[in-house]
Parts: sequence; structure tokens; C-alpha cells
Amino acid sequence: MTQRTDVKIIPMDRENAEFVAQIEAECFSQPWSREAFLKELENPAAISLAAVSDTVCGFINAHKILDEVYINNIAVKNGYRRLGIGSALLDELEKCAGKVSLITLEVRKSNFPAIFLYEKHGYQKVGERKNFYSFPTEDAVLMTKYFVER
Ligand SMILES: CC(C)(COP(=O)(O)OP(=O)(O)OC[C@H]1O[C@@H](n2cnc3c(N)ncnc32)[C@H](O)[C@@H]1OP(=O)(O)O)[C@@H](O)C(=O)NCCC(=O)NCCS
Repeated sequence: MTQRTDVKIIPMDRENAEFVAQIEAECFSQPWSREAFLKELENPAAISLAAVSDTVCGFINAHKILDEVYINNIAVKNGYRRLGIGSALLDELEKCAGKVSLITLEVRKSNFPAIFLYEKHGYQKVGERKNFYSFPTEDAVLMTKYFVER
């Protein structure tokens, strides 16, 4: 992997939310709208980060409830992948979340790039949710990274 050193991970704001929504629309069959991302900026439980270089090239959104973090969405723009940006977003999320007991998420069973990314960052497969996704219908794999002894 060639890491991009010019990429900065910064808090999402009203300006970059516009570009984030475009990346979301390119990546997912049931994308969140720009308004949904803007609403997240007002949500005290939300951690919303953007990856910025010559343009907005990725983002992550998660919710922190007590000592648990749930990742709602993460994506890197086509043409900017395999450069360490997804990893940088996960690392910065951990920093922003502070001391937590776990970070968890669902991922399409066939989404190997994402599953490999999460495994590389210490997430384990802990379950499946049947037919969790639509367009197309697909099972979800539940993945969790634990920060405390179980
Ligand atoms: C999943 C995604 C966010 C990864 O972002 P990225 O910036 O390309 O990830 P990184 O460059 O940080 O990759 C880190 C590691 O993840 C794994 N990985 C990422 N993409 C991979 C691929 N296409 N094939 C195999 N492994 C992959 C590798 O282990 C990689 O390390 P390496 O490059 O040293 O081998 C990106 O592919 C994406 O936006 N996909 C579409 C949206 C999506 O599916 N989001 C997840 C929803 S649950």
C-alpha cells in the first residue's frame, strides 16, 4: 500500500457534507441524503469525519452511545482507494471516540474489501443478520472490535 501523506482527516462540516453525500451516492444503493449528513452535524452522539486531500475523498460516520460505538457508514471515493484512507478514518474514529469497550458495525457478506479492512484493524466476525440489506437483498456480517477483556 502506498500511503497518501497529503490526506487530512478533519471533522465533517456543512461544506464538505455536500461532497460526502456524493461519495455516499456513488457507493451505496440506499444512500443517506445530504440532509441526513447535515442532521448528523447537530447530533451530539455522532462522530462524523471527512478525509480531504485535493478534494473530499472519504468519510466515516458513527454513533457513540455510552461506551459503545456503532459505525453507520464509511467510504472512500473511487480512485482514492488502497491508499490507506479507510485505515486513517478508522484510526481517527478510535481517537475521537476515546475510551470505549467496543466498536461495532454491519457489512454486506460479499463486501470483501471492507471485511479485509476491518479484519486488518482488529474487528472480528461475531454474527450474521439474515437478509439485513435490500437492493440487492443480502445477509450482513456483524463485526466488532473489543477494547476490554471478555
Ligand atoms: C472499504 C473501503 C472503505 C476501504 O477503503 P480504502 O481506503 O481502500 O482502505 P485502505 O487503503 O485503508 O486499505 C486498508 C486494508 O484494507 C484491505 N483492503 C482494502 N481494500 C481491499 C481490496 N479491494 N481487496 C482486498 N483487501 C482490501 C487491505 O488489507 C488493505 O491493506 P493493504 O492495502 O496494505 O493490503 C473502500 O473500499 C470503499 O469505500 N468501499 C465502498 C464503500 C463500502 O463498501 N464501505 C463499507 C461499508 S460496510
